[in-house]
Amino acid sequence: MTAESGLPDTLRDLPAWTPDATELADLELLLAGVYAPLAGFLGSFDTAMVIAGGRLADGTPWPVPVTLAVPKELTAHERVVLQDPEGVPLAVLDVGEAWQDPTSQEWRLAGTLEALRAPAHGPFHGLRRRPDECPPAAGPVLAVATREPLHRKQLGQLRQVAERLDARVLVLPLMGGEHDEALVRALLAVRKELPEEARVIPVPLPRRDDDRRDLLLRSHVAAAYGATHLLAEEEVEGTAIPVVVPEPWGYDADVEVWRPVARIEPDHVQAELTPEQLGELLDRGDPVPDWFTPPAVAAELAVARPPKHRRGITVFFTGLSGSGKSTVARGLSDALIERGGRTVSLLDGDVVRRLLSAGLTFSKADRDLNIRRIGYVAAEVTRHGGVAICAPIAPYAATRAEVRRMVSAVGDFVLVHVSTPLEECERRDRKGLYAKARAGIIPEFTGISDPYEEPEDADLAIDTSEMTPDEAVGRVLELLAAGGWIRPA
Ligand code: ADX
Repeated sequence: MTAESGLPDTLRDLPAWTPDATELADLELLLAGVYAPLAGFLGSFDTAMVIAGGRLADGTPWPVPVTLAVPKELTAHERVVLQDPEGVPLAVLDVGEAWQDPTSQEWRLAGTLEALRAPAHGPFHGLRRRPDECPPAAGPVLAVATREPLHRKQLGQLRQVAERLDARVLVLPLMGGEHDEALVRALLAVRKELPEEARVIPVPLPRRDDDRRDLLLRSHVAAAYGATHLLAEEEVEGTAIPVVVPEPWGYDADVEVWRPVARIEPDHVQAELTPEQLGELLDRGDPVPDWFTPPAVAAELAVARPPKHRRGITVFFTGLSGSGKSTVARGLSDALIERGGRTVSLLDGDVVRRLLSAGLTFSKADRDLNIRRIGYVAAEVTRHGGVAICAPIAPYAATRAEVRRMVSAVGDFVLVHVSTPLEECERRDRKGLYAKARAGIIPEFTGISDPYEEPEDADLAIDTSEMTPDEAVGRVLELLAAGGWIRPA
């Protein structure tokens, strides 16, 4: 079947479902044979056995549950089409079992998969390979399956171990984070520092919560690609192939080389750069030293973690109607524009409701949708390095938290609670809405006849009954300067 031919008639009437990002990655790996011997999503018994003892019901070692959550309505069907987020059908699931997760209460479908087409998009798709497309190597193959770039230390360790094993090197960038492209580019950039014929094959493998199981899974994936050894920082029991833990390396600053710590003269100075120090350096926009990592890798580090004064940020104001959100948000926007160097998008509550959210009501569902739309736009602005200033009421904590998560995946987020008391907002009643709400003319009015959940996670609270608008803007600017997002005035 080609991409253009659409669904065969026999499948057209089946229900379709779009799995989440981790499930789609699992689906791709199941279909590609990377998860062999798994042929489909796991049922209740296999899942329970994997969680309890790291084995499938038949005793085969398998480290993580590979499951598919669906809405309850779908559990009545025998076959379900699984599609990507754009609606392109990828596979048909022959449902073997519909079951409810005892902990999360979510419904899940288990069963075997029939591939319709290989997922054919995503950055670096041209580098992806199925295991059966990789010619088997004659000798040992040392894999490194990583979500981090390889710096000079890891490159030295990798070369040393590969040499000792007389192994070819296989680098598996594990995709599933926000900066996959930067990771793959950083790993491609160091290919020339690796032994001849080192291969780089990106694999969609989002991180699992449990480090030990994550390492076990990485060993299965590496084995599927023909690796005989896995380079990792710790050994755990039950890996599919042996794990090799490299000996500690250090940078001998006196002679300016990386070498095993055991071979560094005791009176020589060893330079170090901890992950925290590296992070601070990137936050400030200072250059990453050449002794630590090749310049091409340093450039990708800065792409994944730009300096704070250039990194995207969302400043999200929340507070009652009439609390002063719009005034302070507008003042902040003006102040940032006057300073220059930053692009600003202002997403004011009332303005958003005239276009982006036109037609929405003030029901809980519509308010949540309104805030999600604002969050979606703010996250895009943030992803592109801009400043998004949002000023809706956003009365629900869970929805605000959702926006914080969305934005934090691509940049920074600060929550400002405009905490002006209800009495003051009502006393001002600039739009006359409180009077109408009291009279029952406007139903579901926030603070009067509808809830406002006070934030417990605000980075700053400002009460505009206690300060002028300029002072309030000043507080926010101080917060941004203290955090390094703008230079102090
Ligand atoms: S939110 O709850 O979805 O975040 P949003 O900030 O977009 O609200 O809109 C709030 C503005 O809509 C208020 O400033 C007010 O002018 C107007 N408004 C009209 N009806 C209501 C209502 N029932 N509750 C709150 N604000 C309302």
